[in-house]
Amino acid sequence: MGKVGVVLGIGVDLLKTSRFQQLLLKHEKQVNSDFAKRLSQRILHPKRELPSFEEAAEANDLRRCTLILSGSWAAKEAAFKSLDIEDQSEFQFKDWYRFYNGRGKPYIQSDDYQLKNPDEEFLLSISHDVDLLVAYVTRQLLK
Ligand SMILES: CC(C)(COP(=O)(O)OP(=O)(O)OC[C@H]1O[C@@H](n2cnc3c(N)ncnc32)[C@H](O)[C@@H]1OP(=O)(O)O)[C@@H](O)C(=O)NCCC(=O)NCCS
Repeated sequence: MGKVGVVLGIGVDLLKTSRFQQLLLKHEKQVNSDFAKRLSQRILHPKRELPSFEEAAEANDLRRCTLILSGSWAAKEAAFKSLDIEDQSEFQFKDWYRFYNGRGKPYIQSDDYQLKNPDEEFLLSISHDVDLLVAYVTRQLLK
């Protein structure tokens, strides 16, 4: 059995992916516009998330770009809500990234936060229906 977790915080975020799709197409009507690039650079982790967005943008894959950006946004809003107030004041979207462990279980993490709080982990759960997306985060202390 793994370590036992004690819940320290929870967070949830619900959004319409269509709003992100419209935002991506707001200027120049294409997903590989300068505006979409700046938006993705503000939201996505430069090494762990941005490359897959850029690859999808290069292929003009609007659906995939929308899912990457909206999933990441919702996961980060949920992670933000799970944090203590002092840590919320330092929160930067692009410091955080989603990842899956070797068995496909989703997490969200920030390397800086992890350095300061090595015994914490952020469990992530995401669900979609049509253009609704919900993300739920549990912040827990591993004992
Ligand atoms: C506070 C914040 C998380 C609210 O999110 P939102 O998308 O505007 O609204 P949501 O409907 O998802 O959430 C609203 C609920 O969040 C909760 N909430 C408000 N402040 C909160 C906080 N500091 N921590 C945790 N939960 C909070 C409240 O319960 C609120 O609902 P209520 O007013 O009915 O009680 C968001 O506005 C925010 O500040 N995010 C910070 C991240 C950031 O820096 N964003 C900009 C990056 S470019």
